[in-house]
Amino acid sequence: MTSDDLAAFAYGLPKAELHVHLEGTLEPELRFALAERNGIELAEKTVDEMRATYVFDDLTSFLAVYYPAMAVLVTADDFDDLAWAYLERARANGVRHVEMFFDPQAHTSRGVAFDTVIQGLRRAVVRAEAELGIDAALVLCFLRDLPTDSAMATLEEALPYRDWIVGVGLDSDERDNPPTKFEAVFRRARAEGLRLTMHCDIDQVGSIDSIRWVLEELRVDRIDHGTNIVEDPALVEALVGSGIGLTCCPVSNSFVTASMKGAEMVDLLARGARVTLNSDDPAYFGGYVADNYVRLAEQYALGRDTLAQLAINSFEASWLPAERVAAYVAEVREFVAAQ
Ligand code: HPA
Ligand code: ZN
Repeated sequence: MTSDDLAAFAYGLPKAELHVHLEGTLEPELRFALAERNGIELAEKTVDEMRATYVFDDLTSFLAVYYPAMAVLVTADDFDDLAWAYLERARANGVRHVEMFFDPQAHTSRGVAFDTVIQGLRRAVVRAEAELGIDAALVLCFLRDLPTDSAMATLEEALPYRDWIVGVGLDSDERDNPPTKFEAVFRRARAEGLRLTMHCDIDQVGSIDSIRWVLEELRVDRIDHGTNIVEDPALVEALVGSGIGLTCCPVSNSFVTASMKGAEMVDLLARGARVTLNSDDPAYFGGYVADNYVRLAEQYALGRDTLAQLAINSFEASWLPAERVAAYVAEVREFVAAQ
């Protein structure tokens, strides 16, 4: 495939995105526009100046840039505009279904009401179905570097909006904040009928123990990142047997660790694991979901069949009902056959 053919194929391929933080889709241009609308003065005056401050080489240094940028998100319109801008880009990336993370504690801790956040996001979700043909769902993420009580209170605050949320996740700084810290919160969320996923970030202290615990003890419905599972072949077998998806983010990995971790993704895929490709925080890492397909394919000489398998995995690892999954998988096969 020429690089043009590869890009056209990767962009056109119908796919689901399962690991994208809406706050991580806040592009500098929108950040400036929202700052102006809300009368907030920013230190930087141009997009280039702003991008020049986006300097990070690990998760902690990334998060130090990511959270302050959210100060411009104040009204329900702001959250609507944020999600809508992402959804339009997702459409151009061939996304048919998306399960989007949002971080309510990053807003309620600044005095923005939970209701404001979710009402705005919900408006974009409803419009996306009607105007973009994307079915979008929201996944509430708890910040793991805040106390457990705060996560439990956030879950309780979310319950009146239960029908607008498909599941819960766990993000932010994993160091000293393993999944076990949130066992009670996640068990409660499951009892409320929510799906469960958790970040098991790359190369953390105790990564393999965390992955084992979320798979075997908590029994999550998906794992975000999680490629350190290759350290334990027996656990990889258990993962494959369970059909649980891994939401991998090659471009993001290349910013916060020494590599894309592509070799691990390709190896896991070959062993039958439900590896999916996703963008994580595309406004900061410079690649939306189709770019992640392109980058992995270029580096590992992946062909169309492998990219199509990744797209099929994205639907099979989603939380859509089985008949919707089957319909989307058929769409992938039709797209490939028509090439
Ligand atoms: N890991 C942890 N927290 C995050 C991430 C991530 O990849 N992106 C946004 N918050
Ligand atoms: Zn993430």
